[in-house]
Amino acid sequence: MVVEVCSNRVKYTEDFIESDYSYQTTQVRKDGDTVKCIPVTKEFVFRTARKVPKTCMALVGWGGNNGSTVTAMVLANRAKLQWNTKEGVKKANYWGSITQAATVSMGTDVLGNEVYVPMKDIVPMLNPDDVVLDGWDISSMNLGDAMKRAKVLEYDVQRQLYDQMKNMVPRKSVYDPDFIAANQEARADNVYVGLTKKEELEKIREDLRDMKKKCANVIVLWTANTERFSSLEAGLNDTASNLLAAIDRNEAEISPSTLYAVACVLEGITYINGSPQNTFVPGLIELAEQKKVYIAGDDFKSGQTKLKSVLVDFLVGAGIKPVSIVSYNHLGNNDGFNLSAPAQFRSKEISKSNVVDDMVESNDLLYAAGEKPDHCVVIKYVPYVGDSKRAMDEYTSELAMGGRNTIVVHNTCEDSLLAAPIIFDLVIIAELCQRIQMKLKHQTHFSGFDSVLSLLSYLCKAPLVPKNTPVVNALFKQRCCIENVLRACVGLAPNNNMLLEHKLQ
Ligand code: NAI
Repeated sequence: MVVEVCSNRVKYTEDFIESDYSYQTTQVRKDGDTVKCIPVTKEFVFRTARKVPKTCMALVGWGGNNGSTVTAMVLANRAKLQWNTKEGVKKANYWGSITQAATVSMGTDVLGNEVYVPMKDIVPMLNPDDVVLDGWDISSMNLGDAMKRAKVLEYDVQRQLYDQMKNMVPRKSVYDPDFIAANQEARADNVYVGLTKKEELEKIREDLRDMKKKCANVIVLWTANTERFSSLEAGLNDTASNLLAAIDRNEAEISPSTLYAVACVLEGITYINGSPQNTFVPGLIELAEQKKVYIAGDDFKSGQTKLKSVLVDFLVGAGIKPVSIVSYNHLGNNDGFNLSAPAQFRSKEISKSNVVDDMVESNDLLYAAGEKPDHCVVIKYVPYVGDSKRAMDEYTSELAMGGRNTIVVHNTCEDSLLAAPIIFDLVIIAELCQRIQMKLKHQTHFSGFDSVLSLLSYLCKAPLVPKNTPVVNALFKQRCCIENVLRACVGLAPNNNMLLEHKLQ
């Protein structure tokens, strides 16, 4: 489908879509009991390059459940694969990806009906069928066998893709047993031995330069095991220059994921963190800002957290007070095995713990300053259930006049089939951000987004945002942000859902 906006505020040239955009916002000042609201309009110009470069999606942890599932999905969709199951024939698709399988309302037709288009058709976007796949893993297993090991996809899919995938082998990786669980050691047969951090950094940079020879654009995404948090220390990782000096000194506290991120920033390559650990130490963020390279994270927002950020938003938004949120998980994949170690579980626990803060803080009628619901997260490793993760949540809320409401949710699904579409969206939207420039009308030069891509918050459990920017966890606010930025790129006002045309007498 092709979306074309007919307006003198948008210009389509061969290379760009350029739009004039009135950004209407409200400046608020609290003065005792009075809240003064001042409407503000800022005139922006958006410029979106129309040509999508050939893009390499390079995954750290390529041979894992997510990595092998993503690879199989690309190959299956590219080949329009069909397979047999006991329920009949199934076809390859990208369900679960907002760019590929969700729609956006563009407005109403002459009859007053809303007209929806695929999100991917508002401005040119990377087609996941076209990505070039590459990556690293500490396990040397080829992608065909890795797909079998993962036990995520139907046998008949595996059978049809195996021959193609067995020729894909992950590159050697940086392994530091101090950062992931000791139980991962058995698969670490594809690693550098005896190199200093500086030499390891150089190896990653060589790989990145090699990828760039084949593709104009490379985006790296960490979907390797969850690491423990690294400690934040003055003189170690607090500034860009201290971080680089610490790598030169071979400091033990520099994690493999931070090394990958530093290598990417130094090579001008966007880096996305799909796991919970604090890869983005302050020095790394400063380095990315200095080099104007995009970074995004942390931790894929797939199942339980996604639902939580809808349910709590609904409850608090409805004037109901959640007082206790208890989340149990059990899973039997390698991610669960790694998370059965306390330090790695702690990273996940931290990532999952702040997800309702913005919603709670939005309502001081229900919550006193600093008051929060009890919030507990438990994760257990149960090998038998494999990738089919169970998530059980109990939400207890206080209702009117001392009433009590308990909602219990039990969710079962293949974890990697939730994560893989999110991996595509992260890469697709990050690639788009590389092509969007903007400026205030009176400014002469365009600039890109801030290096910390908060636009990707919808896809992240613990969104990383630029300094002094509010963290938004509420899912529909996050989705609206993406939708309305896309609309701004083609000069359309935000979706306000007022449908005033139907409300006039
Ligand atoms: P997995 O354990 O199947 O895959 C991880 C892969 O990373 C393994 O093949 C392992 O050998 C490799 N690896 C470990 N350290 C490495 C290093 N230093 N360099 C290169 N490769 C390395 O795990 P899965 O299920 O694919 O998940 C990947 C990550 O995504 C985990 O951290 C998980 O917490 C995170 N995540 C997954 C979600 C999901 O729904 N599947 C949701 C949110 C986050």
